[in-house]
Amino acid sequence: MKALILSGGQGTRLRPLTHTIAKQLVPVAGKPILWYVLNHIAQAKIKEAGVIISPETGQHVKDYIMDGAQWGLKPRFIVQKKPEGLAHAVLTARNFLKNDDFVMYLGDNLLSEGVKSAIDRFKKKKSEALIFLKRVDDPKRFGVARLDAEGKVVELIEKPENPPSNFALVGVYIFTNKIFDAIARIKPSRRGELEITDAIQELINMGHAVDSQVLDGWWLDTGKKDDLLEANTIVLDEYVKCDIAGEVDKLSRIIGRVTIEAGTVVINSHMRGPIKIGKNARIENSFIGPHTSIGDGAAIKDSAIEHSVILSDSVIEGIERLEDSLIGRNARVFKNMHRHKALRLMISDDTVVEV
Ligand code: G1P
Repeated sequence: MKALILSGGQGTRLRPLTHTIAKQLVPVAGKPILWYVLNHIAQAKIKEAGVIISPETGQHVKDYIMDGAQWGLKPRFIVQKKPEGLAHAVLTARNFLKNDDFVMYLGDNLLSEGVKSAIDRFKKKKSEALIFLKRVDDPKRFGVARLDAEGKVVELIEKPENPPSNFALVGVYIFTNKIFDAIARIKPSRRGELEITDAIQELINMGHAVDSQVLDGWWLDTGKKDDLLEANTIVLDEYVKCDIAGEVDKLSRIIGRVTIEAGTVVINSHMRGPIKIGKNARIENSFIGPHTSIGDGAAIKDSAIEHSVILSDSVIEGIERLEDSLIGRNARVFKNMHRHKALRLMISDDTVVEV
């Protein structure tokens, strides 16, 4: 069994962050989304992983995964020159995948469970594909499955106008090499992409067994700001421990599960977990509320922050209340104390500011 991890894609809905970071490297609870994906692959004892990257952000992904030793993996980086679809990405990886079975994992999907038990089920059932389904409120955003009375998948439609069910296709799939025969028979979709959803439909049309499993745990597609904040909330709720390696002065109060990494200094501040704070940050005269992640080297002064993700080296100063926010690296948000009440902005392309 090999793994194919998809880390291309433009991440347009997460701009401006994704002008400078690959979307799979945006942190959730202090770790890039890709970290969680690679951990699931490692837990399943898979050793060979093909990593699909784009020419634009591929180097960042390579720099992050490096030789894969952290996950006991041997990565092979494969460039997909244009975003021509998930099935096209599989074709691009043909030389790497050869005739082996593989788990395909979209690098921006976060799942509560790993893939190990699903691989065991796939091997036992000897089907040509195993897909995961999850009930969602807004199926139009995803591939959607129609099931028969016995719960067998009979039809798959990519982002349908009129969804036949609310079972979305999760971005994790297990395939045999039969998927290549199916991909050879499909045409690009309306959005001009070779869709993996259409290829799986083609497997069904060809009479092959496509097994499906409804996910019990949570699944988050981290495509947009609010999805990312939700992912941050859920992952902090589940994983953050009380672990304070930084320095907290006597005037500060810490309640609940808060992780503060080494080199971080907390002065006269109040924190209510779950919170994750990286290395070498400085929190001064501030309140940090639940479901907040703060990156390495960030500085928070005279501010109150809740339910937000602040990336590394950013500065927040004199802000009475910052909520539901996603702040990129090295950004500065501060109160202008000296002049009349005007907003003075210097923001990048595709930024959203709510005042
Ligand atoms: C892709 C798939 C879709 C699936 C989704 C899961 O969508 O095409 O079927 O439900 O991933 O994240 P995309 O992210 O390309 O819009």
